[in-house]
Amino acid sequence: MNSDYQKIELLKSYAKKASELIKRHEFIRVFTHYDADGISAGAIIAKALLRINKNFQISFLKGLNESFEYEKDELVMFLDMGSGYPDVISNVEADVIIADHHIPTGEIEPKKRFVHVNPHLVGIDGTYELSASGATYFIARELGRNEDLSCIAVVGMLGDKQKISSANAEIVKEGEKAGFIERKIGLNLHSGKVKDVLKMSLEPYLDFYKKEDELEEFLKKIEINGEMEVDKLSLEEMHKLADAIALRMLRMGAYISLIDEIIGERLWLNNMPIKNALMLTDIVNACGRASAMSVGLALLMGDSSYLKNAVDIYEKYTKEVLEELVKRRNDVKEGFCMRYIVMENAPSTSPIATTYSRYLYSDKPLIVVNVKDDRVKVSARANEKLAERLNLAEVMRLAAEKVGGRGGGHRVAAGANISPDKVEEFLKEVDRLCCAMLA
Ligand code: C5P
Repeated sequence: MNSDYQKIELLKSYAKKASELIKRHEFIRVFTHYDADGISAGAIIAKALLRINKNFQISFLKGLNESFEYEKDELVMFLDMGSGYPDVISNVEADVIIADHHIPTGEIEPKKRFVHVNPHLVGIDGTYELSASGATYFIARELGRNEDLSCIAVVGMLGDKQKISSANAEIVKEGEKAGFIERKIGLNLHSGKVKDVLKMSLEPYLDFYKKEDELEEFLKKIEINGEMEVDKLSLEEMHKLADAIALRMLRMGAYISLIDEIIGERLWLNNMPIKNALMLTDIVNACGRASAMSVGLALLMGDSSYLKNAVDIYEKYTKEVLEELVKRRNDVKEGFCMRYIVMENAPSTSPIATTYSRYLYSDKPLIVVNVKDDRVKVSARANEKLAERLNLAEVMRLAAEKVGGRGGGHRVAAGANISPDKVEEFLKEVDRLCCAMLA
């Protein structure tokens, strides 16, 4: 087994090859994912390409089941997608770079020059130790002095709920050394007044939305003034609040490991329009979910004029999700080895799947199905402990293929697209696969 150092060096050698291919082209067409990690990857490559005077165009895709266009003489970059879609990539008649962290499946047979930068290919865990924006950061640092872009990579890491270990730790270390990233002990919460932050919090989800009296009682019991700023709490107050939050989360049914994350090292991004990394991540994520990817992209590229717009989008999106979380609570059904919800025309699937599986129903995998017109979007989530035996990427891929759809992703967070008449058959197959893997 190679050491982390050797694995990262190997990853850098792929990133170097990618940078060499970039330098051969005048125009680069970039396709990236619409989530926080994809937007961050897009912002990193945009900054790096601008600095070496390359022309480029960035488009956001929900996945490679959407169509995309390019010219044959261009370099096409796929960020946060591609590794799980070898057939689509093999059909691209142009030079291609993939910077992704999804589990690679099948053989890619490139038509022209091809570089694949993916942590899984060098023995780094793409679920926790390097995201797509991290992989893109490694390419950027081969293109020039781009250590400041480590801050953007942090947003991708946090967006995909990764850990600051292995390659991610290397990126944070580089950012710290150059003075762009700071670590401070504190509560892993947004900045702002305690009562507002707790009420609107989705990560951690505390179930205080529209429960003002309960929140007041909660704060009164621990003698914390809700008007205080989270960032100004004393160490003693911080611990009191963390203990009370832990107790509430345990009562809600939260995944036990999340308790350890309430208090710890918080990352501060000194060159970003919002310095609290958690907060910036949630704002960029909301921009993506609200189909305002370019607002998130502009913010990450350092344009503060988009700040108000981005915060408005975040607030509206958060309220919508909090409402939805309350509304769908009784729709959760029991399978044998998983739970599922079937929704119609819901605004989104991912936040419901993520929040319920982490904070309310953490002992089984959760599958959220959304039937919207003639299409079905599926989001599947499990925690790290379940994922020791279960691989949701495989569950989604196999069950979707069985009903003529497509699926994939990560062990703990995966998804699928299927047709509406196949929902029942798909769920049955998902349950069967979960039982087989968890047995
Ligand atoms: O959309 P959602 O956030 O639930 O997706 C979870 C993960 O599954 C993402 O990484 C996404 O790229 C992946 N996915 C996939 N194929 C699909 C749908 C989602 O690989 N058809």
